[in-house]
Amino acid sequence: MEVILAEHAGFCFGVKRAVKLANDAADTHSEGVHSLGPLIHNPQVVNQLAEKGVKRVESLSEIDDGLVIFRSHGVSSSRVLEEAETKGLSVVDATCPFVTNAQRNAKQLVTEGYHVIMVGDRNHPETKSVLGHAGGEILVSESFEEIKGYLNKFPKKRIGIISQTTQTYRKFSEIVVKCLEICEELKVFNTICYATEDRQTEAEILATQVETMVVVGGKNSANTTHLAKICQSHDVPVYHIETAKEIKKDWFTGDKKVGVTAGASTPDWIIQEVVQYLGKL
Ligand code: F3S
Repeated sequence: MEVILAEHAGFCFGVKRAVKLANDAADTHSEGVHSLGPLIHNPQVVNQLAEKGVKRVESLSEIDDGLVIFRSHGVSSSRVLEEAETKGLSVVDATCPFVTNAQRNAKQLVTEGYHVIMVGDRNHPETKSVLGHAGGEILVSESFEEIKGYLNKFPKKRIGIISQTTQTYRKFSEIVVKCLEICEELKVFNTICYATEDRQTEAEILATQVETMVVVGGKNSANTTHLAKICQSHDVPVYHIETAKEIKKDWFTGDKKVGVTAGASTPDWIIQEVVQYLGKL
């Protein structure tokens, strides 16, 4: 069985940066290093950091002193930074620059008076951080029907659209085109990050060349889940796993080629374990 690994699989620029900042903080501080929420959506990496002393907290109220790291998805509003500074905490901001850019674009659309739509998952921490920084009313949805129903309340339809950075390009462009049909004015910021686009494009091509796809990454990772969905749309069996331990031999009975891809928060060592395990089958 040939195992084909997608060229762009695993850590993206933003995650690499966040993990490096957290490791540097742990190396230079013997104690008192905290991450506000999980640093990235990968339980294995979060556990490794915890072993090095990076303690996960859910709120600043749990910290009295030391250092706090803002995770790659960003924090819920600029007030969090003010609160951390008021408490005298050292702050390491690991917010991905693509998320910061989406926050900025959302704020601009709100300021310019558009009805702002964010194509994404309203429960995701990145979405909450964009909403918190934009400071105005924003509808977060992946359903055009819901967006249309919301916009019907307004006589003038000046629509501003952004996307969650890990959204699929297909879903985002589909909603943009449909909004074009009902608006008077449309302003679009393509805030999908290049790492997401690269991984999605390659996963889509790979899924057409193999008999089975294995997608590696946190079950709580939005971009990994999107990769799995993209592969599923090509009618191949798709297995979303976090580590090689979950692999079952009978998934690949009779297969000649199996494809492997991984989300932007999956570390290289986990991907290599999966590839090596599959290679032995
Ligand atoms: Fe940033 Fe995109 Fe990675 S938003 S954290 S570079 S998936």
